[in-house]
Amino acid sequence: MCGIVGYVGSRPSLGVLMGGLRRLEYRGYDSAGVAVIDAEGRLSTHKRAGKLGVLTQDLAAHPIADGVTGIGHTRWATHGGPTDANAHPHLGDDGKLAVIHNGIIENFAELKDELLAEGVTFSSETDTEVAALLLGREYRATGDLTAAFRKVVGRLTGAFTLLAIHEDQPGIVVGARRNSPLVIGLGEGENFLGSDVAAFVEHTRRAVAIGQDQIVTIRPDGIEVVDFAGQPVESEPFDIAWDASAADKGGWSSFMAKEISEEPAAVANTLLTRLGDEGVTLPELEGIADDIAGADRIIILACGTAAYAGMLGKYAIEKWAGIPVEVELSHEFRYRDPVIGPKTLIVSISQSGETMDTLMAVKYARESGATTLSICNTQGATIPRESDAALYTHAGPEVAVASTKAFVAQVTALYLLALRLAELRGTLPAAAMRANLAELSAVPDKIATVLGTGAGIRELARGMSDTRSVLFLGRHVGYPIALEGALKLKELAYIHAEGFAAGELKHGPIALIEPGQRVFVVVPSPRDASSLHPKVVSNIQEIRARGAHVIAIAEQGDVAVLPVADDVIRIPLASPLFEPLLAVVPLQIFAMELAAAKGLDVDQPRNLAKSVTVE
Ligand code: G6P
Repeated sequence: MCGIVGYVGSRPSLGVLMGGLRRLEYRGYDSAGVAVIDAEGRLSTHKRAGKLGVLTQDLAAHPIADGVTGIGHTRWATHGGPTDANAHPHLGDDGKLAVIHNGIIENFAELKDELLAEGVTFSSETDTEVAALLLGREYRATGDLTAAFRKVVGRLTGAFTLLAIHEDQPGIVVGARRNSPLVIGLGEGENFLGSDVAAFVEHTRRAVAIGQDQIVTIRPDGIEVVDFAGQPVESEPFDIAWDASAADKGGWSSFMAKEISEEPAAVANTLLTRLGDEGVTLPELEGIADDIAGADRIIILACGTAAYAGMLGKYAIEKWAGIPVEVELSHEFRYRDPVIGPKTLIVSISQSGETMDTLMAVKYARESGATTLSICNTQGATIPRESDAALYTHAGPEVAVASTKAFVAQVTALYLLALRLAELRGTLPAAAMRANLAELSAVPDKIATVLGTGAGIRELARGMSDTRSVLFLGRHVGYPIALEGALKLKELAYIHAEGFAAGELKHGPIALIEPGQRVFVVVPSPRDASSLHPKVVSNIQEIRARGAHVIAIAEQGDVAVLPVADDVIRIPLASPLFEPLLAVVPLQIFAMELAAAKGLDVDQPRNLAKSVTVE
């Protein structure tokens, strides 16, 4: 939530900053702004409400003097609406200092009162301006930006990444972080800062993650990291696995379309080197092998789409490894009194690895004695760093706000975990293990087959662009897919959508059914002996009898749905636990196509941000 980029080196900084902001715009797009120190040593800033394109056009029409040191920001508004005045950067020290911020300064009101009492005036409603003015005041007292930072961060509570530049120190950018992300990009004669590696991956693939409560100073020829007490911190560089083209649209109409097309690769890459004929190899878990083998309970924590992936993980872990699993939204878990014991394994799921609700829940669980495992897609992110172990998905950078390829990669990682747990506990016969491994390895090709049905789904979506409400039904593993289908439609097409457990329908939601109501139904395979297929077909009949228009997602060859469904979307044959990896794809495509048919921006839906770094 909010994207931050900083640069110091030898090339014109505006191009670097705007390129970085373009790649970080998924983090927020209410407004954008830049500040640079020009060749004369003067600070120039420009900022505008609206998406980055507004700032780009404005800078073309009214260029500002460029220089080799600068910072840039793309905002998801918290304190103060999305106006020009509230856009970052904010200024301190009589306009000589510029500050950008990601997070929320929780005690900003009392700090603001203190500054107001001193006669300081404010030009925005943001919490950030308080930090800028305090930094300006401390800079005047110390004459050193890093020292000023150390004074100010001790006074702030909440979550923040702050970056600042000052006219008097033109060759440095200083940043500090607590609970919000910040990563350094290491260049030759130049260095970068970013909310994540996407900010600078086109310039360097060598990075350093900044730890909690640390201050970093970057210069063209080096970096310095200290903790909030000023003690030097050793930092370990890592290589970024993504290349710059992975974070580009590459000819697709939207990032979302491109990312859906990458789903077979997201699953295949997540399986790579981990899937054998007889078992799974997860060296990442070795450090916690005893804890996971001895776990008597697993709690999966996540938000949004990742939480629905977690629900599928529950079915797999309970079925294959026989360990009880609860799935809980991170923000609900954190603020009750969850019972956590030393044998509780916490599995967090986060594409970004920065979702604040999940981060806080993981920290709380760890402090309470649980073993914590993070499933994450982003190297150098905070949640895996704060966990005892990390199992990375390899979906590549996901830029569109609505999560798609990360979801299938998360489910894949959870299934690998479930199979590893089964191995450790000896709960799966060898033949069942082999069958599951074979099913997993077949998923990429089967998703590719589903992608081939995209044109039909587009037609269906176009015919529904006036629809005001859509319901989604599923049972067992179809239920999380119904929830995810509804979430996608809400996020992208702004259509009222609800997902229900099909069995729950008769307990209330069936009252919503009226003639013409569109209902998607995820139909389980009829081939499985314990299949819920007959029950779901009965559920379809119940809603059809009340006038519903039914769109069934059913496997190839399921003829029982033909008389009861108005439309049928086919998916390849798979055993029950693997069906959701296929059934979710048409629902993602449907939501994207319906949003596109309504002329909406599918990559940047209103009011949302991809990485929610505030609680
Ligand atoms: C936001 C995004 C969702 C995402 C959720 C969790 O709400 O809009 O698409 O599922 O955050 O994100 P995470 O990065 O933790 O997976």
